[in-house]
Amino acid sequence: MTFPDTFLWGTATAAHQVEGNNIASDFWALENMPGTFFAEPSGDACDHYRLYRQDIALLKELGYSSYRFSIEWARVEPEDGRFSAAAIAHYRDVLETCQEFDITPMVTLHHFSSPRWLLKLGGWEYEGTPERFAAYCSTVMAELGSLIPYVCTLNEANIGPLIRSMQPTAADEAGSAQAPVGVGDAMADMLSTGLEAGAAALGTTPDNMNVFLFTSSDAGIDVVKRAHAAARRAIKDVSPTTQVGITLALSDYQPLPGAEEIADRMWADNFDAFLPAMEGDDFIGVQNYTRASVSGEGHRPPAPDAELTQMGYEFYPQALEGVLRRAAVAGLPLIVTENGVAATDDTRRVEFIRIALEGVERCLADGIDVRGYYYWSALDNYEWMFGYEPTFGLIAVDRATQRREVKNSARYLGDAARRGALR
Ligand code: BGC
Repeated sequence: MTFPDTFLWGTATAAHQVEGNNIASDFWALENMPGTFFAEPSGDACDHYRLYRQDIALLKELGYSSYRFSIEWARVEPEDGRFSAAAIAHYRDVLETCQEFDITPMVTLHHFSSPRWLLKLGGWEYEGTPERFAAYCSTVMAELGSLIPYVCTLNEANIGPLIRSMQPTAADEAGSAQAPVGVGDAMADMLSTGLEAGAAALGTTPDNMNVFLFTSSDAGIDVVKRAHAAARRAIKDVSPTTQVGITLALSDYQPLPGAEEIADRMWADNFDAFLPAMEGDDFIGVQNYTRASVSGEGHRPPAPDAELTQMGYEFYPQALEGVLRRAAVAGLPLIVTENGVAATDDTRRVEFIRIALEGVERCLADGIDVRGYYYWSALDNYEWMFGYEPTFGLIAVDRATQRREVKNSARYLGDAARRGALR
């Protein structure tokens, strides 16, 4: 058998995207401000804050052995230095529910959203943020660490350099290439129209508007790296047996002839640059959605005849194998903390998972230490600026009734989990 018995077969969510009413967070303010660049507000989301027990029970019934979810900083520390015992008790219930259903929890301590108060201080460019973040991590882990075997400190700590690499180059602006898709566009909207309004909504100044997802300056990237290292130290102090890692968004850079050096540099900015901050980590969380073709001008849009996902990404599940092989050189165990596709046709999701997992199998057969695979996402959920339209979920959610409907892909991956094998 290629997959070890201990392999973590899971699926993932993030607090802001599924819980609902995350009102003390920066995203809530931005979604609800006049003239917002968000497609719609998150509202009740999937009401997972109330329905977590039923959702975890369903994952168990489907065959999964692990569930990755996030604890929300804005709920645990809604005001600077004031911790909510009620929020911590809530997450204790979630973790105990995992234990009851024999589901291994993998907890992310920061998944894009931050408390609003952090933005008053300067958000992810404020030099005191690493210390603030570490204090929150320490509080959570002192209370709940005994129930948490795996922690991801920051989700996609490298989103800054990634966004930077997706911004239009001079050549793009001169019209020789299409504009980049997805988060790159949202970032442009934010900087052009959202900055003043966002600052007003958050009660801060445009200079301090350093929201995690939109911060790509050198200063911001440095704050993020320091925040991870400080968090790891704080977590290990209070919960030494918890395995700690970071997650990185990794694209499979495929250079066109002559662009090898540029592609290598893009990988180095997104991956190698984080290795010093990761010294002492127990694993690397690998997150991958597609490949990126790279030309002399950098990141290229997909070819005109490529199959696109609802996000505008190329449908290319083979990319996961490429990034796992590349990330393996760091010598740390790897966990696929996110991999998935936004598609209305669920047969494409089954195909995506099958091809991606065949790549994982080949990596394992070659001795690469991959310890788990988490499909993004458990539920159709709030896809940030894009609202509820893109559907990544294994489980559909009727948001009027909050009824869950299991898709075939949920059974496909759940059956593999139960067998501990793809076939
Ligand atoms: C993020 C998720 C997001 C997913 C799909 C990842 O970058 O961690 O929050 O929903 O991609 O776009």
